[in-house]
Amino acid sequence: MPAKGGSASGEKNKILKFPEGFLWGAGTSSHQVEGNVKNDWSEWEPENARIKAKEAKKKNWPSFILKNYPNPFQKKNYISGIACDHYNRYESDFDIAKELGHSAHKFSIEWSRIEPKEGKFNRKEIEHYAKVIKALRDRGLEPFVVLWHWGHPEWIGKIGAWENKKTVDYFLRYVKRFIEHPGIGDSVKFWMPLNEFQAYIGYSYLGGILPPQKKSLWKANGVLKNLVLAQKKAYNLIHKKTRKDVLVGASHHATHHAPYNPNIFLNVLLVKLLDYIKKDRIINMIGSCQDFIGLQVYRHERIRFWPGGRYGIAKIDNEELPSTDMGWEIFPEGIYHTLKYLKKFNLPIYITENGIADARDIKRFKFVRDHLFWTHKAIREGVNVKSYFYWSLLDNLELAEGFWPRFGLVEVDYKTMERKIRPSALEYKKICENNCLETEFSSE
Ligand code: BGC
Repeated sequence: MPAKGGSASGEKNKILKFPEGFLWGAGTSSHQVEGNVKNDWSEWEPENARIKAKEAKKKNWPSFILKNYPNPFQKKNYISGIACDHYNRYESDFDIAKELGHSAHKFSIEWSRIEPKEGKFNRKEIEHYAKVIKALRDRGLEPFVVLWHWGHPEWIGKIGAWENKKTVDYFLRYVKRFIEHPGIGDSVKFWMPLNEFQAYIGYSYLGGILPPQKKSLWKANGVLKNLVLAQKKAYNLIHKKTRKDVLVGASHHATHHAPYNPNIFLNVLLVKLLDYIKKDRIINMIGSCQDFIGLQVYRHERIRFWPGGRYGIAKIDNEELPSTDMGWEIFPEGIYHTLKYLKKFNLPIYITENGIADARDIKRFKFVRDHLFWTHKAIREGVNVKSYFYWSLLDNLELAEGFWPRFGLVEVDYKTMERKIRPSALEYKKICENNCLETEFSSE
């Protein structure tokens, strides 16, 4: 049901103030931006590159995508390589985040750097991340630290990663070593041990899109159980070993589902089922081992029962709505419904990812503004929302699609590594600095 209250463009001349202390920023993840990462994901990339570059030739691509480097026809597009060289350029990248008015930054730690071989910890790499945290603090950016964003050391990949219960103990050992290091556990207030249970399982164990590219409900369920166990244990460990004021959240990829046809009972039932499986069940399994919900939201799915679809489900986009460069329907109102849905869990909600692939930067600011409009409406209606992180600070390697989708507030020239601030980033800066959204704008 569409919410009352009009569209973002319908409310004119209004200043929507966000709560005091609201955090504003953007995010990145190690594999997607750092460069020179050697993990089970990079090990898989050459094969993905071969297949995807070939498949790309069968599709029609707009010229604004083909003219960029790398483009979907090039194998290089799918290989992380030196990515954005953020590993070496984090200080100047954080200067940009500061200049853009951000007050917080989310990033992830690359386990494969810290423990490239079983039990052999690399102190220099741990120190690297201590410096990253210090660089954020020096610029007044609150660090939000993720300890695993989907890539594993190769030796973990070889034992079946989260399919194997031993990975939970290995993960805990790495976390312990990491947080005990000076300048880490004592310097970080916000942790999110694991990135998105839902999306990882969806991409790697149901959709067969990311490594290990399986399609098995049985395996998916086993992986979920181990991830939840790891979240609970990491929660207890971080609380025990670090600062008293520490907050350990869980990151949830919580898509808004709507029935394709609300008059068809099966469509409505499927929506309820998906909401239960992807939201309630996981949040309830984690129980009290999450101080906040890290909401990561991109898509809107219209659901229909369809015997030919995978698991009897078809997801249908509304073609009348605008879409991103990746063809994802843009439906900002979805974030409002998701926030309202999550209210019942009675936990603070930090929006830790929301973003759009938009190489021409023609839809990005409207996307952000409209999502914030609907977020503000949820806040007015009593949802405790405490942050907004745009995904991503920089253009980066977009999962199996590679570098062509451009999510960044900052454009990266992959030939020269030059950074260029996009106009939308400057518009977002005004919101960050003023802690408010002005709703005097036209509809397009
Ligand atoms: C992931 C990011 C990814 C983004 C866009 C999120 O689910 O955390 O790694 O780039 O979606 O697909």
